[in-house]
Amino acid sequence: MRPQPDFIHEFVPGSSSRTLLLLHGTGGNERDLITLGRELDPNAALLSPRGKVLENGMPRFFRRLAEGVFDLDDLKFRTNELADFVTAAAQHYGFAIDNLVAVGYSNGANIAASMLLLRPEIVNAALLFRAMVPLIPEKLPDLSSVHVWIGEGDQDPIIATSEGQRLVDLLREAGADVTIRFFHAGHGLTNADLETAGHWLEALNNPTRGEL
Ligand code: MLT
Repeated sequence: MRPQPDFIHEFVPGSSSRTLLLLHGTGGNERDLITLGRELDPNAALLSPRGKVLENGMPRFFRRLAEGVFDLDDLKFRTNELADFVTAAAQHYGFAIDNLVAVGYSNGANIAASMLLLRPEIVNAALLFRAMVPLIPEKLPDLSSVHVWIGEGDQDPIIATSEGQRLVDLLREAGADVTIRFFHAGHGLTNADLETAGHWLEALNNPTRGEL
């Protein structure tokens, strides 16, 4: 019997071999990023789980002790749980596990970054909107075949611009190809974020035709 994916989630089949793993922000749910995912890639399958941790009734992907201060044991546990869910979902729905792009916003971006650092076999590329350094792993993974795009707001009251730069440095140290863009924005997403991220994702299909 095929394993049952054990997160509440949405799955939208696609017409290409790519799947976007959509990871919402604090207080979001599995439907939040479906439209954004479709805009970013009209052909990809979409897999969108709901975070299992509740903070005052708001779904998240891992526990935090305060804003920007994470419960690292829970983060590690939840990162592995999410990675196992993706593997089970790939078998259940029959999508390719080797063409998975994580698309995360805020708390979702942070668990996506954690998955890159702790379970690098799961994700081939990632778009991280309003991300920070989730944790420093004991041993850096080899991310030399991974492409990451990071979008930060230059007036984000939650994430300092230096924090985005720290994440870039960490991922580059692990060998990843990282692009970072600072938008004239706060913590919320803007059209400029989506347009720029969409172009980057398109170029990922055709590396010779655009800037990665
Ligand atoms: C987090 O907890 O992951 C970050 O502080 C972002 C947020 O969810 O507000």
